Amino acid sequence: MPYPHFPPNFLFGTATAAFQIEGGLTDGKGKSIWDVYTHTPGKIRTGENADTACDTYRNPERDLALMSELGLNAYRFSIAWSRVLPSGRGQVNQKGMDYYRRLVDMLLERNITPFITLFHWDTPQALQELCGGFAGRDTAYYFADYAETVVKALGDRAKNWITLNEPLEHCLFGYLLGDLAPGHHNPWEYARAAHHQLLGHGLALERIRAASPDSRVGLTLSVTPMFPATSHPKDIAAAKIADQLFNDFFLDGVFKGSYPDPFWSKIRLVRPLVKADDMKIISRPIDFLGVNYYSREFARAAWNVPLLGFWVDEAQVNDREQVINGRQYTNFGREVHAPTFYDTLMRIKNEYGNPYMYITENGASFTDIVENGQVHDPLRIAFLESYMEAAAQAIRDGVNLHGYFIWSLMDNFEWKQGFSKRFGLVYADHVTQQRIVKDSGRWVAEMIRQQGKGD
Ligand code: FCB
Repeated sequence: MPYPHFPPNFLFGTATAAFQIEGGLTDGKGKSIWDVYTHTPGKIRTGENADTACDTYRNPERDLALMSELGLNAYRFSIAWSRVLPSGRGQVNQKGMDYYRRLVDMLLERNITPFITLFHWDTPQALQELCGGFAGRDTAYYFADYAETVVKALGDRAKNWITLNEPLEHCLFGYLLGDLAPGHHNPWEYARAAHHQLLGHGLALERIRAASPDSRVGLTLSVTPMFPATSHPKDIAAAKIADQLFNDFFLDGVFKGSYPDPFWSKIRLVRPLVKADDMKIISRPIDFLGVNYYSREFARAAWNVPLLGFWVDEAQVNDREQVINGRQYTNFGREVHAPTFYDTLMRIKNEYGNPYMYITENGASFTDIVENGQVHDPLRIAFLESYMEAAAQAIRDGVNLHGYFIWSLMDNFEWKQGFSKRFGLVYADHVTQQRIVKDSGRWVAEMIRQQGKGD
């Protein structure tokens, strides 16, 4: 199969998140809700924590060398809010800020463009205690202060800012389903955290622009197309609600300045206070949309699920990649299905005014085994081949897409799953910190080298 072909100046990067790779609760870093969650017995499936993770805080050079080896020209990483502001507000921890300044400088020296995420789920524990994290409205304002502080310090060299990563996952799994930190089961907090994150995004956007007028600011949303599990009208209605909860709530909020019905009416009993200017703040024009795309899902009506009345089918996959009814699944239980990725990009183009876009995450976890110092991962190569080709086709069909960040550079701490799920282009041994470029990493390097040839 020929390599997918992208336009000139396309960005090829990988994505990571501070908590998943850095380790290093040291040099003045304050705790985040994830430090607390991972040290609460029973929360992480494998019993592991991320105290060391990929040891990136101590040794960022190792990761940077890998990026150069793969020929990548962009890198998306996140800043740990509590590393630069240990209590989430007020006093700056200079050592923490210096670490990120050095990281940005090292990237620029290597001609790798930094894309910095300001919030990738690791709320400072102090703010969790003070106002409930994003369930409290004040956190939106503290977030904007923090964003300004960081951009004032780094904005002379870093120009691409992503306010939030996947607000949906943070509020849904963190506050309603309890699978991510802070691990709550509270519909009111879920709805508040959804709205307050978007408010924080809008407030931060203005402050970032003011602090660094030549910066580009966007946010990253996960987009997960929802299909009815059967053709029963109840399941069709369930898929519509699911689609609005997962996707349209955030997309409509940002691009249209409103929340979608019938979902918004359905959650009226738990709705947060939306003040007069909130939707105007939330829908301030962004410079780009970051899309995290993994797979499609199927929803069905479920009378016993309070509030929402639907459930999302779980693939019958037990930690093992497998083919079920002709469909390939990753060992996360996610279906490999590139056509719906294409459709999703076209849908964003058609329904949201064809925004300037990057894929800020896409990737797959499979069971990787080291054999004679190598990792052969043909399923990941096949995954990337089909998804990147779908994106290339979408560009040919008019989608305004300018870069692609693969999740992830290296295997890292996969939240509740600990180290049991490997998404990297590079294999990481989390005990020895040895790295091995997987076959998929070599495939990406060759794909990048082939760009521009044969035009
Ligand atoms: C996304 C997260 C990212 C990583 C991947 C696998 O939802 O943004 O941190 O866990 O999934």
